[in-house]
Amino acid sequence: MNRTSAPPSADFSAQDREYMTRALRLARRGRGSVEPNPMVGCVLVRNRRIVGEGYHRRFGGPHAEIEALRQAAAQARGATAYVTLEPCSHFGKTPPCSDALIEAGVGRVIAAHEDPFPAVSGRGLAALQQAGIAVQCGLCGPEAAALNAPFLTRVLQGRPYVILKWAQSLDGKIATRTGHSQWISGPPARCYVHRLRARVDAVVVGIGTVLRDDPQLTARDVRVRRVARRVVFDGRLRIPLNAELVRTSRETPTVVITTAASAKLAKRARLEQRGVEVLGCRSRAGKVSVLAALHRLASRGWTNLLVEGGGQLIGAFFDASVVDEAHVFTAPIIIGGQSAPSACAGAGVERVDRARSAGAAERRNLGADQLTILRFQEVLQQVTHALGFTQTPAIH
Ligand SMILES: NC(=O)c1ccc[n+]([C@@H]2O[C@H](COP(=O)([O-])OP(=O)(O)OC[C@H]3O[C@@H](n4cnc5c(N)ncnc54)[C@H](OP(=O)(O)O)[C@@H]3O)[C@@H](O)[C@H]2O)c1
Repeated sequence: MNRTSAPPSADFSAQDREYMTRALRLARRGRGSVEPNPMVGCVLVRNRRIVGEGYHRRFGGPHAEIEALRQAAAQARGATAYVTLEPCSHFGKTPPCSDALIEAGVGRVIAAHEDPFPAVSGRGLAALQQAGIAVQCGLCGPEAAALNAPFLTRVLQGRPYVILKWAQSLDGKIATRTGHSQWISGPPARCYVHRLRARVDAVVVGIGTVLRDDPQLTARDVRVRRVARRVVFDGRLRIPLNAELVRTSRETPTVVITTAASAKLAKRARLEQRGVEVLGCRSRAGKVSVLAALHRLASRGWTNLLVEGGGQLIGAFFDASVVDEAHVFTAPIIIGGQSAPSACAGAGVERVDRARSAGAAERRNLGADQLTILRFQEVLQQVTHALGFTQTPAIH
């Protein structure tokens, strides 16, 4: 990154912080609609009065700065722009925001952090400085990075942000010994899952879950911000041609990720005839490589994945250290049975002190179930570090 200025946040006033916090709240409204772009908010302030504000509402639509400048019109001259991300400096779906800010005659720009996207990467701030605008960077940087952790994970780590979800009994089982699992959690928990599905790029399951449950994996009875593709990790192309995910693949796209060897099987053509996309991927110990698959999906701009199980696939994601959040519903029931599956199979860890820990967990009741949200901070810490911050980002 071409770092232009990143003074410590001590250089900013309490009022600066207030305006940036407002811009961050605005930015968040774009969640689920702007990806693969980042969420961005902008507040324009002149003489201690907000003269314009806006946020990036949807992919392809105007950026936050443009919305705020339109609102402010002539009052933008000499104003301070609080932007949650470095203004862009390149022609993408829309013209550069740095040019618009220069033309509007703003006097000062405060950005939360630089945009690591290669086409920007410090150039937006540099262009503003060259035009004589006072530029500062770093206000609420860790908070902004936490908000855009999915975008930053994709740009800096080359993989989508991974959200796991499962429902378990109080004794940690995700199904009975016969594989029966519908329904462990109650209607409020299921509605919560539909809302998650309605804002991610893809809902992912292992072939074991498809064979046992024949799920639809669609977002139902909620406001859908984007239609998630359904993705199946299926190393041997075992998915039945009459599976729900195959039969409905022309309405809601289905992608089957298999090994490079299985991608040569004749069944591939039969799946493709039915509208299913088959991706051949590198394998690891006989299974589809989780990392290789994630890199492949990130290269399509997919930013958020919701992995819904079952236990083997969830375990494989933990073993590969690519879990960013886990949303776990615990029902007040005991399933029992030594062979009944638990949420995380895979290899697991050898010692308790090596267990994955997310620090603080968020807990709330959903009907009779308890929802626990774990946010694993390692990647977020790496990406905020890459942006030049040493402070631990706030959990969003
Ligand atoms: N309570 C819940 O929230 C919940 C959610 C989902 C499912 N379930 C239950 O869980 C059970 C199914 O779980 P499961 O563990 O048997 O199946 P699973 O995790 O859905 O699928 C496992 C299969 O996925 C394939 N796979 C591809 N790449 C893999 C990788 N890198 N690592 C691991 N597996 C990979 C493997 O088959 P190949 O070797 O052929 O590739 C493997 O056998 C069902 O009873 C279902 O009802 C419960």
